Amino acid sequence: MSKGFFITFEGNEGCGKSTQVELLARRLRALGHRVRVLREPGGTAIGEEIRHTLKHSKNNHAMTAEAELLLMNASRAQLVREIIRPAVADGEIVLCDRFYDSTTAYQGYGRQLDLEMVKSVIDVAVGDTRPNLTLLLTVPQEISEFRRAVRQSTLPFMRDRMEEADRKFFERVAKGYEAIVTAEPNRIRALDGSASTETVCEKIWEIVQPALPKVGRW
Ligand code: TMP
Repeated sequence: MSKGFFITFEGNEGCGKSTQVELLARRLRALGHRVRVLREPGGTAIGEEIRHTLKHSKNNHAMTAEAELLLMNASRAQLVREIIRPAVADGEIVLCDRFYDSTTAYQGYGRQLDLEMVKSVIDVAVGDTRPNLTLLLTVPQEISEFRRAVRQSTLPFMRDRMEEADRKFFERVAKGYEAIVTAEPNRIRALDGSASTETVCEKIWEIVQPALPKVGRW
């Protein structure tokens, strides 16, 4: 197996995962670990262009669910091969803001694409590159909606196609995440993202710290 460690963060819009990724990275770096912070879709030059097409392009209104699935995974295929695999092989700790569980939750459950087909596309994108640990931050739908509305009001010029979906879509996404945790309880740890930033940060550390001695001994 590889020498490094690969942690992914998941959750619905406004669950606070981007903040927590940064806090964990800071903490790990302070302990002397080499840490790589990535995001999906994106994380490479090609992936960031795909991210723009998926979220902000003014020409993306007519995007089909299948095109969305393939673009998310095109970005992922690039990120896995260009950055994640080499970094983990070199002993780095890789923190990724979203990975393939987002595809299962959003395109599988949210857009209601066939789950077996979704899984096949993910398999092509990632091969045997799987997270060692996944932290799922959950927040009630109302908090997610509120935080999304705040973000949209502070960045009105940054239209986000993904955030234009209706409430039922985000409810299905939340159900998808529940199903994912149930299916893989050893890899995925769910946390209450509505607690204070400091509390969530400590809970994450309680999970991550015991896993760290394994780094470098895979
Ligand atoms: P975020 O970086 O602000 O979380 O935005 C990414 C958006 O893309 C978010 O709405 C979730 C969505 N997404 C998918 O639908 N499928 C995926 O596979 C990934 C990685 C993200």
